[in-house]
Amino acid sequence: MRLDNLLAQEKISRKSMKQALLKKEILVDGLPACSLAQNIDTGLQELLFQDRIIQGYEHTYFMLHKPAGVVTANKDKKLPTVMDLLPQHLQSEQLYAIGRLDRDTTGLLLLTDNGPLGFQLLHPQYHVDKTYQVEVNGALTPNHIQKFKDGIVFLDGTTCKPAQLEILSSSPTFSQATITISEGKFHQVKKMFLSIGVKVTSLKRTHFGPWCLDDNLQEGDYRHLNSKELTIIRDFLRKSG
Ligand code: URA
Repeated sequence: MRLDNLLAQEKISRKSMKQALLKKEILVDGLPACSLAQNIDTGLQELLFQDRIIQGYEHTYFMLHKPAGVVTANKDKKLPTVMDLLPQHLQSEQLYAIGRLDRDTTGLLLLTDNGPLGFQLLHPQYHVDKTYQVEVNGALTPNHIQKFKDGIVFLDGTTCKPAQLEILSSSPTFSQATITISEGKFHQVKKMFLSIGVKVTSLKRTHFGPWCLDDNLQEGDYRHLNSKELTIIRDFLRKSG
């Protein structure tokens, strides 16, 4: 949650916040806060306002193994959503998915009630890599690896940032690969493969930045992030502060 919103909940006036910020009297894990817009999770970080501990708000973070057939949305008129996979009591929380996966894409999706975090993680400034396991209906060659490295150009002229393609198997009608991209354009992976003349027949996200899909999580299942995964969030909040 934004620092100013946290402090406002403690009935601290905006004027006092600004003065305390300037005087370096707002400390986050012992370091002066940089801005009132800073994203803070007091479940992961210690917040001091003029030597007073602010209890603030502990955010929630889940890892979900998205199955095919559900849409990445909070509500949909016709289709089941990723939120429908959660028990009723969590559906009323202000949770949302960080990034979108297509309806037929499976794999790692982070869910949180920390609003600004998703915005930050998806912002091009932070270059969060996403890795996918891909199956396509044609051959993949070393030439394609180079094309992905150089930056695939879509038919409409849009150029993608360099991507890493690793070919796991290849035959004229079926190939398997992993691809790592640092952007999040609409249907990006599918369009990248289409532009080299093959169609994606299966797509699964295995990594989102430093977070890795838990092998023990079955499709449709979710769990809280563990302490190691939460430490990555805390470090990210610290760096992006
Ligand atoms: N790229 C796609 O084409 N689809 C996804 O779901 C994710 C990345």
